[in-house]
Amino acid sequence: MKEIDRNEAFELASPFPYTLAVTIDNRERPNITGLSWWTFTSWDPFMIAISVGKTRYSHECLMHHKEFSLCFPSEGQEKDAWLCGTKSGRDIDKFQETAFKPVQSEKIKPPLIEDSTVAYECRIVKHLDTGDHMLHAAEVVAIHGSPEKVNHLYSIHYSKLISLGSKGR
Ligand SMILES: Cc1cc2nc3c(=O)[nH]c(=O)nc-3n(C[C@H](O)[C@H](O)[C@H](O)COP(=O)(O)O)c2cc1C
Repeated sequence: MKEIDRNEAFELASPFPYTLAVTIDNRERPNITGLSWWTFTSWDPFMIAISVGKTRYSHECLMHHKEFSLCFPSEGQEKDAWLCGTKSGRDIDKFQETAFKPVQSEKIKPPLIEDSTVAYECRIVKHLDTGDHMLHAAEVVAIHGSPEKVNHLYSIHYSKLISLGSKGR
């Protein structure tokens, strides 16, 4: 091993599972952002945390309405999933600019994204300021999935998305 920089480390440790967080803004419009900084944090209660940059529109949305859905885009959704990780909801309506279809959630206000491999409905219980990103720890209040959509998307650093599945490729 040798000493390497952050960028090389991110590249080497790739792929990371890529997710889409759907939030609600202060005009009650849903917004979608691409996230690879997410993790499960507890089994009981079942908790997920996402780390969102304070400059993102999604940060504003999460501080306004403390719920989000975390949706795992499936193979075939690469182009739209990438747009959500590179364009801001301040400038565009991502449900209008993509083929993503909102599906009403069971227990939270932000919608789910149709054809996600898995989608978690999450209610924030704690924010933790960690620097330029804020960690939002949330309880999972409902879980949905499409068992036929086995392949979902992974990011290689911040350069591209690839698809892999629970059954191997
Ligand atoms: C592969 C990939 C992973 C990303 N992961 C994160 C992340 O974990 N947290 C974050 O705040 N932004 C992440 N981003 C950047 C946001 O998705 C991007 O800034 C987005 O345009 C923010 O949209 P918004 O302004 O509508 O919230 C990622 C982008 C890409 C392409």
